[in-house]
Amino acid sequence: MTTNAETAPVPVGPGLSMFDPIFVGIDEFGHPVYITLAYRNLLAGGEPGGGKSGLLNTIAAHAALSVDSRLVLLDGKLVELGQWEDCADAFIGPDITAALDILRRLQLVMNNRYAWLRAHGRRKVTPADGLSVITVLVDEIAYYSATVGTKQEQEEFVALLRDLVARGRAAGIPVVAATQRPSFDIIPTSLRDLFGYRAAFRCTTPNTSNIVLGHGWAEQGYTATDIAPTNQGAAYLIAEGGTPKRIKVAYLTDTQIAGIADYAAWIRRPRPLPTLIPDLTRADFEVAA
Ligand SMILES: Nc1ncnc2c1ncn2[C@@H]1O[C@H](COP(=O)(O)OP(=O)(O)OP(=O)(O)O)[C@@H](O)[C@H]1O
Ligand SMILES: [Mg+2]
Repeated sequence: MTTNAETAPVPVGPGLSMFDPIFVGIDEFGHPVYITLAYRNLLAGGEPGGGKSGLLNTIAAHAALSVDSRLVLLDGKLVELGQWEDCADAFIGPDITAALDILRRLQLVMNNRYAWLRAHGRRKVTPADGLSVITVLVDEIAYYSATVGTKQEQEEFVALLRDLVARGRAAGIPVVAATQRPSFDIIPTSLRDLFGYRAAFRCTTPNTSNIVLGHGWAEQGYTATDIAPTNQGAAYLIAEGGTPKRIKVAYLTDTQIAGIADYAAWIRRPRPLPTLIPDLTRADFEVAA
């Protein structure tokens, strides 16, 4: 059968899913490194300029291009994740009240999803459920947990974030969080261990590297202090139960992000514009609505 190029169906859509492995960079042997975020959380820690936001942006790109994912962004600096705003359901800047509101809403969604799972005798959401994975990205935990707001608000932020990190993954609400202050007051061990993936970018002391990766790794030779300050984007990545792997994160420039975000926002638009489809008139949409 021959097809007329002008009338043949054109495959459209990004073809990505949040349940797919996410490409995050290469390891020291040049092999591609993937993470599967749908059922796991990720923590990125390390000193300023190490490349944490670079990793968050790479993940945001995959999430934005996944039609089964929604994005919730918390960015105290506004500019780290700001380019994804049009693709996101919520974009929270330096506002603790808004941050608490969105975390409370996410907690509610999570509870509802668990009630639904229980009613169906199930333990976790799967791609077949048709529920979107709600990817929550937090750039700089310490900003909300130690800088803005009252002590009470900060404590509530930590409690809500902890709950989301602890219970969100099986409900399809993974959390990806970054901090340039890997210290016990910001990332207590009990919270750290809830992150299935942890990436230590350059750290100043073996102790801070251990706070991200886990106790004892520096002593075994896996310490992010040996990453040169000029080697931005290099990190040790550990996945639950594994050994830290040295990686170099795939970096997207601002221009590349702008291009991807633009395309992602377009494929995410709520409904086609009537004017773009010649066979349908505006009236067709009004009747249907
Ligand atoms: N994977 C990478 N490859 C190459 N260069 C990178 C990579 N990641 C980051 N960089 C460079 O390092 C700079 C700082 O990176 P980034 O903003 O991600 O750091 P950060 O850890 O988020 O810092 P901060 O804690 O101050 O927010 C980037 O502007 C970029 O020039
Ligand atoms: Mg950053």
